[in-house]
Amino acid sequence: MKFNTLAFCFVLLVFSFTSVSASDDIGQSVYTKSCAACHASGVMGAPKVGDKVAWSSLITEGVDTLAHNSIKGKGKMPPKGGNMKLTDDEVKAAVAYMMEMSK
Ligand code: HEC
Repeated sequence: MKFNTLAFCFVLLVFSFTSVSASDDIGQSVYTKSCAACHASGVMGAPKVGDKVAWSSLITEGVDTLAHNSIKGKGKMPPKGGNMKLTDDEVKAAVAYMMEMSK
């Protein structure tokens, strides 16, 4: 019985991951590799992903402004989170993903 519940949760989990669009996939993988180090836990005052209060004012600035700031760097955040190999579009996808996860 317990196994069935777990299996059901697993199916739900897989389904929820596969139902996101392709651009979310890019955003998520860029975020995981290049941004989560600071933004998953809020290192150095980075707005923590999932912290609705921290993100509410950022979200009102819009994805373009936040992507611009992330590409150029802001405060203690290095340009592109320190990963200069990322394209501007990849950074923007990661920003969009972070905003989506923090609503
Ligand atoms: C080395 C740690 C670090 C990494 C890696 C990092 N950030 Fe940040 N980020 C910060 C800090 C610190 C701030 C707060 C900057 C401030 O307001 O002084 C911040 C702020 C931001 C903001 C808010 C900008 C604003 O306008 O206030 C966005 C959006 C953001 N980061 C996106 C990203 C993205 C996308 C990545 C990955 C490509 C990333 N960050 C990687 C530390 C980091």
